[in-house]
Amino acid sequence: MASGLRRLGFQTIRFRLMIGAVAVILLANTGLAVFSVTQLGDVLLDEVQTRVRLDLNAARQVYDQFLERIAQFLRGLSLPGGTLSRALQQRDRAGLEQRLRIIAREGELDILTVLDAEGRVLFRTANPEASGDDLRELPVVRRALAEQRLVSGTIIIHQALLEREGAKLAERAYFDLLQTPQARPTERRFEADGMALAAAAPLRDERGRIVGVILGANLLSRRFDIVDRVKDVVFQSQTYRGKDIGTATIFRRDLRISTNVRNQDGSRAIGTRLSAPVAERVLDRGEIFADRAFVVNDWYITAYEPIRDPDGEVIGILYVGLLEAPFARVRASAAGGFLAIVAASTLLSLLLLFLLTRQVLKPIGRILSMSHKVAAGDLSARVSGRHSGELGLLVRAVNAMADAIARREAELERMTRAQIGQSEKLASIGRLAAGIAHEINNPLTGVLTFAHLLREKLNMQEADRGDLDVIIRETTRVREIVRGLLDFARESPSRQEILDLNEVIRATMKLVRSQKEFARVLIEESLADGLPLIRGDRNQLQQVLLNLSLNACEAMPQGGTLTVKSFAGETRVGFSVADTGCGIRPEHMEKIFEPFFTTKPIGKGTGLGLSVSYGIVQQHRGTIEVQSEPDRGTLFTVWLPGIPAGEGAERA
Ligand SMILES: Nc1ncnc2c1ncn2[C@@H]1O[C@H](COP(=O)(O)OP(=O)(O)O)[C@@H](O)[C@H]1O
Ligand SMILES: [Mg+2]
Repeated sequence: MASGLRRLGFQTIRFRLMIGAVAVILLANTGLAVFSVTQLGDVLLDEVQTRVRLDLNAARQVYDQFLERIAQFLRGLSLPGGTLSRALQQRDRAGLEQRLRIIAREGELDILTVLDAEGRVLFRTANPEASGDDLRELPVVRRALAEQRLVSGTIIIHQALLEREGAKLAERAYFDLLQTPQARPTERRFEADGMALAAAAPLRDERGRIVGVILGANLLSRRFDIVDRVKDVVFQSQTYRGKDIGTATIFRRDLRISTNVRNQDGSRAIGTRLSAPVAERVLDRGEIFADRAFVVNDWYITAYEPIRDPDGEVIGILYVGLLEAPFARVRASAAGGFLAIVAASTLLSLLLLFLLTRQVLKPIGRILSMSHKVAAGDLSARVSGRHSGELGLLVRAVNAMADAIARREAELERMTRAQIGQSEKLASIGRLAAGIAHEINNPLTGVLTFAHLLREKLNMQEADRGDLDVIIRETTRVREIVRGLLDFARESPSRQEILDLNEVIRATMKLVRSQKEFARVLIEESLADGLPLIRGDRNQLQQVLLNLSLNACEAMPQGGTLTVKSFAGETRVGFSVADTGCGIRPEHMEKIFEPFFTTKPIGKGTGLGLSVSYGIVQQHRGTIEVQSEPDRGTLFTVWLPGIPAGEGAERA
């Protein structure tokens, strides 16, 4: 039970300590981990976004390279006095046609057309039959003529022009618009205009006069070499779980016309459209958009920038995006690492705490077991070992307390033993005295009887009679002492009757007043009314009162006041005898109830008065107490059990 309690208390403190500490550690660690992980995530995202912006620049360069290739090609063809100019000058249509066919094939150009100096078509390589239409609506042509130099850029080629260049080309540029969630709502169902990389260069004769214009273009729609080149060069074709990490797309306005973002079925996601917020930013406002975005079917970290035609109008978008999943995985594994560290450090702290609390609580356990031992009576139990700090203080205090308890216990034992010794001494003296008194009483009666008989003899001389009187007087005195001894030893039988204490006091004090010893003493009586009755021996109680009064009188040789009072307690009745005499010296207080203790000269005191009174009061199941102050006076108080009101009345 005790050990169970101990263990319980022990664990409760430890449990609370641990719970508190674990809560703090967990909270702090988790807070730190969450903060670090989000911070890390932000840094990572920032880093990736910067990278994507750089990748967009690289993609732009790839795109420009493709444009530059066309420009380079036309630059070669349009050298002043070149074969093209010459053929044009000589109106050598057959030579022109033959030459252009070879050039177009070599240059991998979708469109290679020669215009006159006004911008009208002279010859179409792809479709020689169609000629004479005006192409000055094309920004590159208009600018090449106006600025008299080579102009290149991305342009829109309308459906009509595409069809004149050939049905195949028009077909390549045609898209049914696919339903795309988050795209801007539109009434349109298809896109027939194409977007192309184009360059136009003026053709001059030997004197530098412009005789025509050569126009070269590559349709971007469904042409994937640019985006795949971006993927290869910029992203090194890295994949993550079978998916390309890096993707690139070319938009005609918000329509994907060339891309390597894949649909679920693995086909290229052309024909789908851009989400509205990005379209708003890039197409309407002409800004770069860089953020994470949901593209087709996955999250990407993306960058979009507008593609402008030579007039500066936004006609499309170039996009690059990095699959977010690999970075998310890095973030997740970092988070996992942090969590593992949190868990490990929490566990470690717990272990440390466990050991620490055990260390700290050990002295408390020792104190507890020591207290249990002391409570069970083993006063020698102490907490052993050296302890520092507050617990050391506690241990020392508890040990000191146990020392004090042990000392007090020893003191108490000594006092009890002394008291028992005193009682035993009184009892054995009593028994001894009673034995002797009994033995002496009978011969003494004989001596007295014969002394009296002898004294009655007629022929007795006066001197002998006087001696006999001395014998009789002294023997009577001895008999009184013997009677006192017998009384003390309670050998004399007592008669129990129902008494009114006040009545006993009055009768006794009447007797006292008549004694000549009390001539100088003023006697005062103060008796309470309505006292409960008592049960006792009238003669014996009178003797107690007489003894106390005599002692009081003897303490006041110069006279004084003797006060007798009676009073009622709760269940008891009491009386007191007070004097204004010499008082009792403190060192005598313990001894006055002992038989034969007297401070009075031999012949005057027997030392039996108080001891006999003590015996009588004890026999009545009462108590006798004394209070005294030297030279001021003494107060004896006697308490006797009262008879409860109902019972007493019935018996009276
Ligand atoms: N009222 C008192 N005033 C002073 N001393 C007293 C008083 N009563 C008792 N004593 C002291 O107690 C002692 C014992 O009293 P007691 O037993 O009556 O014997 P005795 O009177 O024969 O000496 C006395 O000797 C006295 O020293
Ligand atoms: Mg006396």
